[in-house]
Amino acid sequence: MQEIDKDKQHLIVDRLGRRFRNLRLSLTAACNYACTYCVPDGKRLQAAAYELSGEEIVRATRLLIDTAGIDKVRITGGEPLLSPKFPETLQGIMDLGLSDVSLTTNAQLLPRYAEAIIESGMRRINVSLDTLDRERFREIARSGDLNTVLHGIELMQAGGLAVKINMVPMKHVNDDQILPLLEYSLERNIELRFIELMNMGHLQASPSYGREFFSMEEILDRIASRYAFCRTDAPFDSTAVRYDIAGSGVFGVIANESEPFCRNCTRLRLSSNGAIYGCLSSARSSNIRDLLALPDDEAKAALQEVLLGALADKQDENFQGEVTVMKFIGG
Ligand code: GTP
Ligand code: 5AD
Repeated sequence: MQEIDKDKQHLIVDRLGRRFRNLRLSLTAACNYACTYCVPDGKRLQAAAYELSGEEIVRATRLLIDTAGIDKVRITGGEPLLSPKFPETLQGIMDLGLSDVSLTTNAQLLPRYAEAIIESGMRRINVSLDTLDRERFREIARSGDLNTVLHGIELMQAGGLAVKINMVPMKHVNDDQILPLLEYSLERNIELRFIELMNMGHLQASPSYGREFFSMEEILDRIASRYAFCRTDAPFDSTAVRYDIAGSGVFGVIANESEPFCRNCTRLRLSSNGAIYGCLSSARSSNIRDLLALPDDEAKAALQEVLLGALADKQDENFQGEVTVMKFIGG
């Protein structure tokens, strides 16, 4: 059960003691990759027809800090660096003075934005990378360039940011990359997280989900063939279970199937067109665009109602999966 500070007693809490603290802002639904696990062949995610402006996103965030008690913001997409709104939105969010603001990106455009990110004061960033093999990279992402990603990671580290890498291991696709990516990460003091393939979007109707799913147990067995490790602490509502390789570093597993974290989930999502989602596994949403035109007091009252509905959408135990595409609602 989560403890609520005295000044946060007005906040909405559900019967499992959950409340929203962690806001994921999707700047755009568009992506410059078309990863096999995210979209079917021939499809690419496009920007929503009617996006919120950078100013609206920052205002929504400020209102959500007051009404929901948000203390952590992650900028996501689609691919957030594709959005022309990225620089102004980043600055606007940084100016809100939160202790934890970060970004999840595929890093293709990191070299272009490295300076702005470093100068904004952001302390950490998460990069998606599924293989260190240049050809395989293009087969999985159906786009992009491996060296650009590696260069982007170097720029972030040189600028003092902590980097995490997210890898989705898939059987007979890139499971042979588990150890090379781990070695690469340990050498550079990067926290690598292995994500169990999630049954979302087009995978819900595809035999490839069952064929390619690579479980936490299989991931740990593979790592145990080279390293000794033991389980270590993770923050309260962490997506990842964390392991320590003595003297070498840590890695994580985001085990949505094997060890779901729904009971401790504090995440709230705002999509690029203004829809609030209470759960990654629910397609239900409530659009707050019109509400953002109201004066603060009225906007906050209306937001309380929206948040009540969004909290009720959270699942109790397991990640169920939805037809929603991860990138669209801000993986
Ligand atoms: P940290 O704050 O660095 O721990 O980031 P994060 O893990 O919360 O964010 P990131 O964008 O790096 O997400 C990594 C993965 O976590 C995603 O690809 C999803 O697999 C999983 N994830 C993120 N949010 C949720 C969620 O709300 N529910 C579930 N079940 N999984 C999520
Ligand atoms: N299963 C697991 N991870 C996924 N991502 C996108 N779709 C899926 C899926 N079906 C991940 C990306 C990225 C993060 C934002 O979401 O690899 O690391």
